[in-house]
Amino acid sequence: MTDATLAEPNVTDIEDRLRKTQAIAGAFFSVFVLLHLSNIALAPLGVETFNNYQRLLRQFYQNPIIELFIVIGPILVHAAAGVWLFILRRKQSTRQRPLLSRLHSWAGCFLLTFIFGHIAAVRGPSFIMGVFPEFDGVAFSLWYLPYYFYPYYFLLAMAGFYHATNGLRALAARSGYVISQKAQINATVLAGLWIAVSLLSFGGLFVEVQNPADNDFARLLGDIWGADPAKPIRL
Ligand code: HEM
Repeated sequence: MTDATLAEPNVTDIEDRLRKTQAIAGAFFSVFVLLHLSNIALAPLGVETFNNYQRLLRQFYQNPIIELFIVIGPILVHAAAGVWLFILRRKQSTRQRPLLSRLHSWAGCFLLTFIFGHIAAVRGPSFIMGVFPEFDGVAFSLWYLPYYFYPYYFLLAMAGFYHATNGLRALAARSGYVISQKAQINATVLAGLWIAVSLLSFGGLFVEVQNPADNDFARLLGDIWGADPAKPIRL
């Protein structure tokens, strides 16, 4: 005789709870992601505008409570639920999912692979030593190691934009607000163009950038890696 109250929850119960937890954590984190990407989008307007806006945003997202509950906590919960769901779904049907849904998963995998390194590189120095990367820090990375950082930042921003907006679109659809796939694709293409212009601005194409190696962030990385920040790595 089996007691239903003692029965183990089946996979779909667990899956359902994980999906809800992941959606809530994702919605919290997307607040930060969209603000952060709006900051990147301001790079073409110049160093001062970019830095002033970032300093303003930082008062919000680096408030210890906000940073814990909107940034770091949700990333950890969202990522852990994602990995758990992946393990549960591995054994399920291998039926091909639509392209936009697979893109969502690929973007998520990309973010999972690179996000913790990104946080360590850009938040670590300000958290431990009070050195903020700001415009100069991004400009330095792109100048110092362009073959890595241009594709890396482009894909990071695209993955972040697509994963956040497509996730919010799915949440909105559950509440009856349907946003078409076409609108999602158009917004992603537009974001891609804008991100490319922003990265070229950090690189000095549309914005005047002073010596990219002459700032505290570059000097700190040079000290940490034991390398000369004034000697960029070229192929
Ligand atoms: C072109 C793309 C990107 C660039 C150039 C970039 C650059 C930066 C910089 C300079 C900071 C430090 C901010 C500060 O000191 O206030 C930062 C922080 C951070 N970035 Fe990015 N980022 C990019 C994309 C992304 C994306 C797509 C995500 C997430 C999906 C992300 C997640 C974070 C997180 C979590 C932090 C730490 C926030 C904190 O707790 O202060 N970044 N990024």
